[in-house]
Amino acid sequence: MAVLSKPVAVPKSGFSLIPVIDMSDPESKHALVKACEDFGFFKVINHGVSAELFSVLEHETVDFFSLPKSEKTQVAGYPFGYGNSKIGRNGDVGWVEYLLMNANLDSGSGPLFPSLLKSPGTFRNALEEYTTSVRKMTCDVLEKITDGLGIKPRNTLSKLVSDQNTDSILRLNHYPPCPLSNKKTNGGKNVIGFGEHTDPQIISVLRSNNTSGLQINLNDGSWISVPPDHTSFFFNVGDSLQVMTNGRFKSVRHRVLANCKKSRVSMIYFAGPSLTQRIAPLTCLIDNEDERLYEEFTWSEYKNSTYNSRLSDNRLQQFERKTIKNLLN
Ligand code: OGA
Ligand code: NI
Repeated sequence: MAVLSKPVAVPKSGFSLIPVIDMSDPESKHALVKACEDFGFFKVINHGVSAELFSVLEHETVDFFSLPKSEKTQVAGYPFGYGNSKIGRNGDVGWVEYLLMNANLDSGSGPLFPSLLKSPGTFRNALEEYTTSVRKMTCDVLEKITDGLGIKPRNTLSKLVSDQNTDSILRLNHYPPCPLSNKKTNGGKNVIGFGEHTDPQIISVLRSNNTSGLQINLNDGSWISVPPDHTSFFFNVGDSLQVMTNGRFKSVRHRVLANCKKSRVSMIYFAGPSLTQRIAPLTCLIDNEDERLYEEFTWSEYKNSTYNSRLSDNRLQQFERKTIKNLLN
């Protein structure tokens, strides 16, 4: 006789909550749309990016951050280049050092990856190959999303990030072990590696080593830890995609807590449109003008406003329309 067991309350853990999208599953477009609506965050498996590519880049990245500080600061710069502790120019700090690069592979004569790197060689190749492959996978994901939303043509979103003038960025982050980040010895407090924020672009694609630290914010305001998985990619919906879907997709708030023992290395590809691209709710997703939750802006306008704000600011607020729905929220 079958015994009916009582349902057990499942603790809130990233393991069971975070949607996993299998790119080899032809039906994954529906799960993708749901993940973007419910969390603005998902993990991608069977992604087609070769493990060798990302382990070579990780290796090169670790080598770069192991250089003496004096060498790293030779390639310091803003907005591109090496940075340490300071995030942006408005007072945000974190237990992190990073290297920020223009990831537009088609920019012709423009700065690709840092001409600033002294011995580009293998690092440069690894960066280029990784970006090419991740950009392709990002386009596949965006095309599935477009299909899932019933939008035609399929490249409505992917063309924005594969355009010749796309303003995409590659960011390498290194969070050294932080002894202070031990909750037991630090009065229950964690040290912040990267403060809470949303990513401004269309979508961001993160890969990291196997050290935990990344957390995402749920709709009820609670934070959950994302179990690291060095073989998969984690996608964040960005502010621009939230606007283009008229708020249907959520630009997820996330942060990184420093780890007391292990260092974390992450590489994030921020897929952005061209500077002149107009960002507005897609007309095929709204029935009438009154439903439109955001004013139109160009990516360049939005980017400037992010440069002038703090990490945790709600930068979309200034572009919200005074609709009943917005006023009620
Ligand atoms: C970012 C970010 C997370 C990480 O750089 O925008 O969210 O794990 N990074 O480094
Ligand atoms: Ni981010």
